[in-house]
Amino acid sequence: MKVVMANDHGGVELAKKFLDYLNDKGIVVTYLGVDSAEKPVDYPDMADKAVKEYDAGNYDYGILVCGSGIGISVAANKHSGIVCALPQNEDVAILSREHNGANFIAFGGRVNYPDDPVSMLDRFLHTPMSLEDRHVRRRERLFK
Ligand code: RB5
Repeated sequence: MKVVMANDHGGVELAKKFLDYLNDKGIVVTYLGVDSAEKPVDYPDMADKAVKEYDAGNYDYGILVCGSGIGISVAANKHSGIVCALPQNEDVAILSREHNGANFIAFGGRVNYPDDPVSMLDRFLHTPMSLEDRHVRRRERLFK
């Protein structure tokens, strides 16, 4: 598995936890930063960089983190071919793969999740898309 990850200054600490998890699991990650909360950046720039890298390389997933998760997920979803989930909990992280076929996932580094965000990421990365007709049909409509 190969993933690309980017975050703004609001997502540094959570991105570090994700990096530890990815490295522990042997998941290949291209990390685009930023690696310090003292380096303010604009979240649309970090989303754009991650999507550009995702499109250029042979990546399975993109992972994004900003303060709330909202700005960076909206920016990613403006790109053709990207379905960026912003899950509230582990169940929704799973559904975002099964039903929506999300290829990106966003988190808020300043959000108190009811579940461990590392577990949410793990479930996202390891849940296949449902091949049931209704889900395939609805997913196809996301790209029209
Ligand atoms: C940056 O302060 C903050 O606005 C950003 O990380 C994010 O929460 C935007 O949606």
